[in-house]
Amino acid sequence: MGIAPWRWLFALCLRLLFLVPAGVPVRSGDAGFSKAMDNVTVRQGDSAILRCAVDSRVTRVAWLNRSTILYTGNDKWSIDPRVVLLSNTQSQYSIEIQNVDSYDEGAYTCSVQTDNQPKTSRVHLIVQVPPRITEISSNIAVNEGSNVSLVCMATGKPEPVINWRYLSPKARGFVSEDEYLQIIGITKEQSGQYECSAANDVSAPDVRRVKVTVNYPPYILETLNIGAPLGHQGVLRCDALAVPAAEFKWYKEDKRLSESRRGVKVENSENFSRVTFFNVSEQDYGNYTCVATNGLGQSNASIILFEIFQSTSSPLLQEETTAALTPLKGRAGASCLVFGKTRVGSVLELHLP
Ligand SMILES: *[C@@H]1O[C@H](CO)[C@@H](O)[C@H](O)[C@H]1NC(C)=O
Ligand SMILES: *[C@@H]1O[C@H](CO)[C@@H](O)[C@H](O)[C@H]1NC(C)=O
Ligand SMILES: *[C@@H]1O[C@H](CO)[C@@H](O)[C@H](O)[C@H]1NC(C)=O
Ligand SMILES: *[C@@H]1O[C@H](CO)[C@@H](O)[C@H](O)[C@H]1NC(C)=O
Ligand SMILES: *[C@@H]1O[C@H](CO)[C@@H](O)[C@H](O)[C@H]1NC(C)=O
Ligand SMILES: *[C@@H]1O[C@H](CO)[C@@H](O)[C@H](O)[C@H]1NC(C)=O
Ligand SMILES: *[C@@H]1O[C@H](CO)[C@@H](O)[C@H](O)[C@H]1NC(C)=O
Repeated sequence: MGIAPWRWLFALCLRLLFLVPAGVPVRSGDAGFSKAMDNVTVRQGDSAILRCAVDSRVTRVAWLNRSTILYTGNDKWSIDPRVVLLSNTQSQYSIEIQNVDSYDEGAYTCSVQTDNQPKTSRVHLIVQVPPRITEISSNIAVNEGSNVSLVCMATGKPEPVINWRYLSPKARGFVSEDEYLQIIGITKEQSGQYECSAANDVSAPDVRRVKVTVNYPPYILETLNIGAPLGHQGVLRCDALAVPAAEFKWYKEDKRLSESRRGVKVENSENFSRVTFFNVSEQDYGNYTCVATNGLGQSNASIILFEIFQSTSSPLLQEETTAALTPLKGRAGASCLVFGKTRVGSVLELHLP
């Protein structure tokens, strides 16, 4: 574009004005406009309006971004389409910057000439940026006892405050008040969801979650010995906690329990295994071992299926029987631990092979 020589001169004059080191007394209070303007704070993506108050003595006006001229009078110098002139009147000279981004932040200067005397007024454009998590650890699976470190990085303006929370009904407060979360010697109770939050007061916090899986070897919960009358049903149950889920195997004495035998059903789920004898026979009584295994190890427990003699025809519930026999696990008197016949009340007798 052809630029009139006066514009060059004027531009040069403005440039000199703003490239001059600070401290040069270019400000004066008399024009009214040049007293320190308030900073302009806008959110990223919004429009910023830069206003400059002028009066009738003003002969030339311009807005500059640092040392770059954006507008002089009605002439646009900036090639940025987001910069538009809003008003150029006797009292006000304003421009608008649309769709503001963080790189627009900085000092903008309104420059006016009054009586051949240049005066400037500076305004800081402050761009606020909502918090955004830019980097976060992936979901992980670790073995119990490992050290875990999670990281969460975020951007935003003002600088977001980052913290970590453990999402558990029992957890209180933050587990970390910065971008790093360090867990030394993680326990299985510490597995679950961890949430990183990045917050500033520009908009709602940015929140993301990381799932931490803690692997551990099987742990068999307390088992119960089971009594069942001949020809009745008997159920052995073995509960195990493990991550990854355990695989179960049953042994009777040293032999693997055949799961395909008629009259026997073995059901395995994620955290328990159940053996059902639909029609308990003499050979079924005995000492069973439940073995729970996963990649990290194994654990076993023994469960005894013992015979109950029904001396009356009243159908006894297995639950009652089991309750009566729980002492076999160790709380009981010596008589109950003896493998043989013991009277319990008047209705049943125990017989352990
Ligand atoms: C405007 O912002 C600048 C830079 O952030 C700061 O130094 C100055 O104190 C602010 N002025 C006002 C009036 O807030
Ligand atoms: C202001 O200047 C900066 C630095 O040169 C530039 O990145 C930005 O786009 C400019 N903004 C406007 C609205 O001219
Ligand atoms: C876990 O961290 C502790 C303390 O920093 C260190 O002593 C230990 O060796 C670490 N353990 C592993 C498995 O890296
Ligand atoms: C066993 O697993 C089921 C479903 O996977 C779960 O609801 C239950 O709480 C678990 N039991 C134990 C003792 O962990
Ligand atoms: C249980 O097994 C015995 C011996 O094999 C048989 O006589 C009896 O009929 C069976 N009872 C049922 C309910 O299947
Ligand atoms: C059952 O078997 C296990 C392992 O084979 C053994 O440790 C345990 O003492 C046995 N229980 C009884 C009551 O014999
Ligand atoms: C049961 O566990 C003990 C000790 O952990 C081990 O020595 C034994 O071999 C296990 N039994 C079976 C049947 O896996």
